[in-house]
Amino acid sequence: MKTIKWEEDRLLLIDQRKLPDKLEYFECKDYKDVIFAIKNMVVRGAPAIGVAAAFAVALADLANEDIKKAAEEIKSSRPTAINLQWAVERTLSSDSPLEEALRIYREDMETTRAIGEHGASIVEDGDTILTHCNAGALACVDYGTALGVIRAAHSMGKRVKVVCDETRPLGQGARLSVWELQMERIPVKLIVDGAAGYLMQQGKIDKVIIGADRIARGGVVNKIGSLMVALAAERFGVPFYVAAPRSTFDEENSIYDTVIEERGSDEVLYYGGCRIAPKGTEVVNPAFDIVPSDLITAIITEDGVIDPI
Ligand code: MRU
Repeated sequence: MKTIKWEEDRLLLIDQRKLPDKLEYFECKDYKDVIFAIKNMVVRGAPAIGVAAAFAVALADLANEDIKKAAEEIKSSRPTAINLQWAVERTLSSDSPLEEALRIYREDMETTRAIGEHGASIVEDGDTILTHCNAGALACVDYGTALGVIRAAHSMGKRVKVVCDETRPLGQGARLSVWELQMERIPVKLIVDGAAGYLMQQGKIDKVIIGADRIARGGVVNKIGSLMVALAAERFGVPFYVAAPRSTFDEENSIYDTVIEERGSDEVLYYGGCRIAPKGTEVVNPAFDIVPSDLITAIITEDGVIDPI
């Protein structure tokens, strides 16, 4: 299963708004369709939005659009994951945007497998691993980063169990990670976000592995709630790993300079289509938070397992 497919001059994206109920592809015929898909979370996860954005530049080029203007629009579709800007700039500066997008696509598949291979070395037989959000096949072309490590360890015969945080407000853990792991027949249990600390206190979690939207000097940005998981992990002595490709690194800048996306209030006010707070409730809805480097045991990349930067 591929999250992203390029077929006859159009981009197909698994429509992640519809999972786990329906597995359908969303068709993008021009770059504006891709911008819609990124903004509305048809496609999400740092590597996947990078690959989709690269194809958006290619679509603009094929349609003889003003490619520089299109690139600026594509870059501003979501602000936090650096893969998006990285992929747009790389595609824009190449002679053939389509060839470059296809190269980024293939590299993503190679990179996630290399992350899986390196990461499997830190997983022990019998481990219970907690993960937050979805850093799986659905967040990349396929395979995944944090879930790629789990996949690789599982395929080596290590008996791994996974605990997924539901990941409010959009439920990427519940809807996407659980779905992926069930398909692979990897044992998985779902918890509410607030249960992660308690399970660690009870000694029920051996390791935490999450993905990243940006890794810069001083820490890692990932889905809102990652910081609380990291703080609990430190308190209860649970190793905390981040799995991410080099394209997620922004070594020039401080992590505290990252623009953290603020999303709409309805994501918080509604749950499964039902309103859960009184009318007039004010909401703060940051989509990501910052995990400082001193809370991170190591970062798993395609080049190996390294210290946080
Ligand atoms: O808002 P999302 O669903 O795009 O956020 C995704 C995450 O935070 C992932 O953990 C991150 O992008 C890593 S994906 C390999």
